Amino acid sequence: MPISNSESLTLKKNIDFSEDGLLNYAMNLSRREGGVKEKLLHWDFGPLMTMKHDVKATNYLFSDEAVPFHWDGAFATEPEKLLFYCTESEGEGGETLFVNTEKVFESLTSEEKELCSKVTLTYETKKLAHYGGKIIVPLVQKHPHTGKTILRMAEKVETNLNPVSLTIEGVDNVEDFYQWLKEKLYTFAEAHSWNKGDLILVDNFTYLHGRRPLGANRSRAFKRLQIL
Ligand SMILES: [Fe+2]
Repeated sequence: MPISNSESLTLKKNIDFSEDGLLNYAMNLSRREGGVKEKLLHWDFGPLMTMKHDVKATNYLFSDEAVPFHWDGAFATEPEKLLFYCTESEGEGGETLFVNTEKVFESLTSEEKELCSKVTLTYETKKLAHYGGKIIVPLVQKHPHTGKTILRMAEKVETNLNPVSLTIEGVDNVEDFYQWLKEKLYTFAEAHSWNKGDLILVDNFTYLHGRRPLGANRSRAFKRLQIL
């Protein structure tokens, strides 16, 4: 299914794509009152992150590796929406994967839902890029605005460049459970192949995202804003 058909995920064109234009566009999408610091998540580099391949990367996000499913702001503040503007892409490689966890949860049997509701996940990573720390979260959560059931399931990140560990509690066979749920996520995954100029807005609570390895698409670059 094409991404643009997804309910909470839209592609838009014909806006001002300068950095100031993107900042204004993102700010207008926030439900919060106040200025830019109240409406957009800020890091040490500010609210707008440039994402592109770096041969000297110390963190996998900036390498050419695949990025497993995750949600943004897990180790800081969780933004409600993410805005990605593609400034460069050569087509195949580095496709972003999105998965609607509401649909994944709805697909489960009542026994599976019950099993998931008992699970707690602990994630830990060193701060080598803009994020880091330790968090403990229930797998099954409610979307803070719609009240729909979502799954906060990020994959463990097995890399030499800033790995993220995952400890699962609440089920007997942890590895089987992890593999089963991971398979569910990929069954519902939608891949977006990037073209320069694409703008994607995604709900960071409903959806998890990740990416395929960059392959030959090393010039793939984005500007990314996180809307509180
Ligand atoms: Fe992300």
